[in-house]
Amino acid sequence: MMRKAMCAVPPMGWNSWNTFTENINENVVKETVDAMKEQGFLEAGYEYVVIDDCWSLKERDSEGKLAADPEKFPSGMKALADYVHAKGFKFGMYSCCGTRTCADYPGSFEHEFEDAKQFAQWGVDYLKYDNCFKPQNQDGRTLYRRMGMALANSGRDIVFSACQWGTDSVHEWIRSSGAHLFRSTEDINDSWNSIRDIALSQIDKQAFSGAYCHNDMDMLVVGMHGKGGNEYISAGGCTDEEYQTHFSLWAMMNSPLMIGCDVRNLSEETKKILLNQDIIAINQDIECRSAFRLNCVSNSPDVFTLVKFLSDGDIAIAMFNMGDIPAMVTVDFWDMGLTVSSGKNLKFYDCVEHKDIGLKKERYSETVAAHGSKIYRCKVV
Ligand code: GLA
Repeated sequence: MMRKAMCAVPPMGWNSWNTFTENINENVVKETVDAMKEQGFLEAGYEYVVIDDCWSLKERDSEGKLAADPEKFPSGMKALADYVHAKGFKFGMYSCCGTRTCADYPGSFEHEFEDAKQFAQWGVDYLKYDNCFKPQNQDGRTLYRRMGMALANSGRDIVFSACQWGTDSVHEWIRSSGAHLFRSTEDINDSWNSIRDIALSQIDKQAFSGAYCHNDMDMLVVGMHGKGGNEYISAGGCTDEEYQTHFSLWAMMNSPLMIGCDVRNLSEETKKILLNQDIIAINQDIECRSAFRLNCVSNSPDVFTLVKFLSDGDIAIAMFNMGDIPAMVTVDFWDMGLTVSSGKNLKFYDCVEHKDIGLKKERYSETVAAHGSKIYRCKVV
């Protein structure tokens, strides 16, 4: 079989971990798929539905194969994959490069090729591959390359989602392993501090992310409002304004957009954030150019603008205030290469309000709320 190039742009979808942790089962997956379909998530681009840890029995079966827990998945993984596919989505699963997964289920260490074949037979399209219980003296690079090789030769096109938490300078070598996305940080939780820390830690890593292998800043916590699957994830929740900032950051920084909340029960505000086609279009731009950071006059590390050049010549400009008091953010156009002598202006379109806000000359300033953001798509005219 000829392999297809996959994930030219960051993958989008849903992952079970944030909300369901070990309480994942086939009904939840089916209801999630139905809810995503009904509410327009598939059309918006969210195509992968991924089951994270805790789907299997605690031990391999008598033939040494991974086996789905029959209480959680009575119809089996093939039937569930068929259900997901029939609704037009792609099906994702999870394993680990060590002997056990992070939640202590069997891992794929020294079973890589047989497990990849098993996933292919079930109809899996995406594998998240974690980093727990790695035997000592095992080089993580070799283990990720091994699964990369196993998936590439499994007989099915399977996206390889490496979850190496940013350890061992993963950004420097992971592309060579065949991975299509790579986790670059520790686990997110549903708090402003977690969103801020992850975003700030990855701004100077932008250049390592690109088409076909994307920096995965972890699943979105948008819309969770403190309802995580465990105490660590719950962490108190965020405001809708913070969730909007989170979504705009992940979009501007070309992270995969994997929803982590319960999509069966969404507020209008959450839907507005997650289904924002103007912001999704910035994230999914075919050239995947990294955004660059412009500091503000105040030079505070918390107040900055990200600028991303888009394939049609437009420029995405997003202002962020990670600080705790409102801040005036000014973007000087010459800082992004637009000189005054060019005679050119920028025509601003607000991607949250979905409206034109007019032609701006030389610079543009806005007051940005604490933990808030503004995101625009601009034309050079
Ligand atoms: C690790 C990963 C998480 C999740 C859990 C499951 O912590 O980083 O994203 O997959 O394992 O146990």
